[in-house]
This record gives sequence, structure tokens and C-alpha cells, in this order.
Amino acid sequence: MHSTWSRRCNACGYEQQYEGAWRCAMQQRTQEVGAEAHRDAVIDVHELVKRYGDVPAVRGVSFHVSRGEIFGLLGPNGAGKTTTMEMIEGLRIPDGGRAIVAGHDTKTALHRVKAVIGVQLQSTSLFDLLTVREITELYASFYANPVPILPLLESMILTDKLDSRVKSLSGGQKQRLAIALALVNDPLVVFLDEPTTGLDPQARRTLWDIVLRLKERGKTIILSTHYMDEAHVLCDRICLMDKGTIIALDTPDQLIARLEADRAVVFRVSEQLRGEEDKFVAFREACAQMEGVQTVSVHGDVFSLYTSNVQRSLIDVIQCTERCGIVVDQLSTRSATLEDVFIRMTGRSLREQ
Ligand SMILES: Nc1ncnc2c1ncn2[C@@H]1O[C@H](COP(=O)(O)OP(=O)(O)OP(=O)(O)O)[C@@H](O)[C@H]1O
Ligand SMILES: [Mg+2]
Repeated sequence: MHSTWSRRCNACGYEQQYEGAWRCAMQQRTQEVGAEAHRDAVIDVHELVKRYGDVPAVRGVSFHVSRGEIFGLLGPNGAGKTTTMEMIEGLRIPDGGRAIVAGHDTKTALHRVKAVIGVQLQSTSLFDLLTVREITELYASFYANPVPILPLLESMILTDKLDSRVKSLSGGQKQRLAIALALVNDPLVVFLDEPTTGLDPQARRTLWDIVLRLKERGKTIILSTHYMDEAHVLCDRICLMDKGTIIALDTPDQLIARLEADRAVVFRVSEQLRGEEDKFVAFREACAQMEGVQTVSVHGDVFSLYTSNVQRSLIDVIQCTERCGIVVDQLSTRSATLEDVFIRMTGRSLREQ
């Protein structure tokens, strides 16, 4: 007879099934989604490992990227995003595992891989004294069949900067130039490593439009970021990384749906309550017991209750705080985000080190 046991996973909070061993529902889903993408994979990454001395930077990551997909690597600083990308690009040699790009192994056929990829590195040093036109012509000269330069620079909104020196470009213009240089060989796969870090909101949005247009033109894109809004807007699937491992891989909406609580009730408690340890703990416990509340996260004096019944939770919070004489401030509700998924799975914010 087959019996099923389930429990909550201590690591990520999702349901686990016992099948001879405990299997986490999130890991199961992550494997299924990976398998779906495998069918028309342009990139196939299997158990990639990289260590720097004693530091394990990437600890055996596996995923597939489909043709025409925008695939996001999202994670905090040091998660292993750049190392993973650069092993696929053939710029760093893996200590274990393999990466196949368009059917070519980066270990044995790197020259073939290089012919089909375009890379924008996290920190690009360009020749400051060359003009935009000159540097693009220089890069184009490295390839047998480069794309025409003027339409390429026009698509990156750099036409009026053709004769400007690189050193005179703004941050956003430099990033757009770096992407233009990555596209000069008309690659099948484009790697964008944190293309918008350090840019102002308007420059970020301009770059988002450019990335979406690349997808429309049929490019497959691997993009790393630590901005959850960027990942949500741009990516078809997101690989959530932390400490060199994949903690979840799915579409943005599915990742959030897996919280089982798509709304958050957020409020601040008074400074005074933080000083009363017992009362603070009892209140936190009471919040966790409220109907519909799946998770309670506390950062300093800010409580976030992830709930499937926002109206009930609002009433419960107001009644409970009134009963206990707790003063709350800045009470609001909002939709759950990818940041919430990360907090739920790691106990930390994407911005925490
Ligand atoms: N060349 C190197 N030598 C030694 N350690 C390194 C090197 N490059 C990366 N690391 C370490 O490997 C880990 C992963 O770094 P990686 O740059 O891949 O992370 P990341 O997710 O891209 O971070 P960020 O968001 O800051 O760019 C970090 O602990 C980092 O300090
Ligand atoms: Mg990086």
C-alpha cells in the first residue's frame, strides 16, 4: 500500500512529499520547468561547479534556456551569477560540469561557441579615446560577417553620438554601446550581465525596451540582475540564485503564486514594542496564527504578513493590536513580489549581504 506524508520544508517553507526521501515541491517544480525548456534548448548547463581557492562560487547548477527566451539570473551580490554566465561564455573554466551552447561544448568547441554568442560583461573597459563609430568598426573587424554598423547603432539610440568619444558618453549610453558591441556578430545568444546597474530610472527603462526588442528579433538572452522589478518585467523565466546554488526556477508569476499568499499586509510597530521582548514575540506568534496568513516576516519594526485573505488579515491585525495595546503605523497592503519569494526562501532580502 502507498501512503503519502507531507510536511513543510524547513529550508524554503514549501510543501514536501515523502517518497522514500523528503522531496520539496519547489525543487520538484523547478526540475519540471527545466525539463520543459530542455526540448528546444539553445543552452544546456549541467552541474556547473566553480571554486576560487576555498570559496565555492558555483556549486553545481543545471538549467536549460530555450530559443528566443529571456532567461534571468536573479540573486544578491556574490550569488554566483557572473561566474555562471562566464563559464557558459567560455571565459572561466569550470571545475566541474559542462555547458553546451547551440550544440557546442564550451570545453571542446569554444571557437564555435564564440561565433554564436555576444557578451556584455558586468564591467566593460572600452577605449575612451575612440569614437562610437571607430570602436564599433574595430569590433566589427574581428568577425567575418559583421552586421551593418549604422543600423546597429541606430537601434541602440546612438546615432547622434557616432562621432563622440567613448569617454564623453553617459552611463546609459556606455551600456547601450556595450550591448551594440555584443551584437556586432549578429549572435544567436546574447549575455547581458547587470546591464542596468547604476543607471537612473529613465535610462533603465530605455534599456528594458532595447532588451525586449532584441527578443522580438528572435535573440535568446541570458540576463543577470539583482533588481526584482527588472527580472519580473523582462524575463520569461527566472533562475533565483543564492550562495552558488539555484533556489528556484520558474516564470515570475509562478514563483510568486508559489507563495500561496499573493498579498502582503505591511505595517510598522512602535519602537517601544521592540524593547518588550516577550510581548513582541507573542504578537509575532499571534500574527502567524491569523486566518489566511502563510508567513510573517519581520525586519526591524516592520511586519509583513503574507496572506491569502487580505480583508480578514487587515481586520485581525487591527483587532489584535487594539486588544494588546500595540500602536501600529503605516499600515498598507500590496501585491507579493519576487523579493518576497526570495525572503521566504532564504530569510534574507535580496539587498542584504
Ligand atoms: N576572480 C575571483 N577570485 C576569487 N573569488 C571570486 C572571483 N570572482 C568571484 N569570486 C567570488 O565568487 C562568488 C560569486 O561571485 P560572482 O561575481 O559570480 O557573483 P554575482 O552573483 O555575479 O555577484 P554581483 O551581483 O555582485 O555581481 C563571490 O563570493 C565572489 O567573491
Ligand atoms: Mg556579477
